[in-house]
Amino acid sequence: LSKVTVPSLLEKKARRQPIVSLTAYDYASARLLDEAGLDIVLVGDSLAMVMQGYENTLAITMDEMLVYTRGVRRAVRHALVVADMPFGSYQADEQTGVANAIRFVKEAGAEAVKLEGGRERAALVRRLTAAEIPVMGHIGLTPQSVHRMGGYKVQGKTTAAMEELRTDALALEDAGCFSIVLEGVPRELARLVTEELHIPTIGIGAGPDCDGQILVLHDMMTMTFSEPAKFVRRYADVADVMRTALADYKRDVEARTFPSDEESYHLPRETRKSLEV
Ligand code: KIV
Ligand code: NA
Repeated sequence: LSKVTVPSLLEKKARRQPIVSLTAYDYASARLLDEAGLDIVLVGDSLAMVMQGYENTLAITMDEMLVYTRGVRRAVRHALVVADMPFGSYQADEQTGVANAIRFVKEAGAEAVKLEGGRERAALVRRLTAAEIPVMGHIGLTPQSVHRMGGYKVQGKTTAAMEELRTDALALEDAGCFSIVLEGVPRELARLVTEELHIPTIGIGAGPDCDGQILVLHDMMTMTFSEPAKFVRRYADVADVMRTALADYKRDVEARTFPSDEESYHLPRETRKSLEV
């Protein structure tokens, strides 16, 4: 497997080869993703919810995102490592956005950053691109807009909203994004945008016609505690595997059958003899 790069992802779109992506937040998971041959590992700010138990993604800080990104960076050799810019790290002004994106590259080894929003981010995307930092856009259902949206709802359902989204996608491509995440939009709209853009679209809850797909690792592995969204396919039930293992461990410790003699260290024979009466 050769290294996935920004140009190699653009080539994939040209060749109509699907781009495979998931989130990861820690060394062990990221290693497994990379060894499975995924194209993109996203250190998503969804970690606020699935790793830290927050209700939404808003509270996670730059410093926290950097810690998680470093662990992922140390695990990944092949995939492109993308760091998600957290809420508050780029909304106030472009200068701050560029400074924070540079921190992801310099302090954590990210190869690209992702940020939410459409036209209103075009100027920032231009600045980042000029600063040699590849940018992934993210439009549609943008979780950092939870208060404006009034919850997590499918976006782009009216003709007017569809036009807004298409304009945003083109503005991001024009500003220099190398890829755009389409989240929580009708399949038909995602298909239209995917056909209109030269850069790859990565869908989550956006149907099968995008150039690639992404899911939150904890959703698809079942390491979450509520009903998943419609678009989540459960590929494994890791929570159930862990529940069984934890119950077995508790039973064994309480029955004193763990650890066994074979799982114990022993004194050298001579020393052991001197202990025997
Ligand atoms: O934070 C995240 O995990 C994301 C992906 C779902 C696109 O933004
Ligand atoms: Na995110």
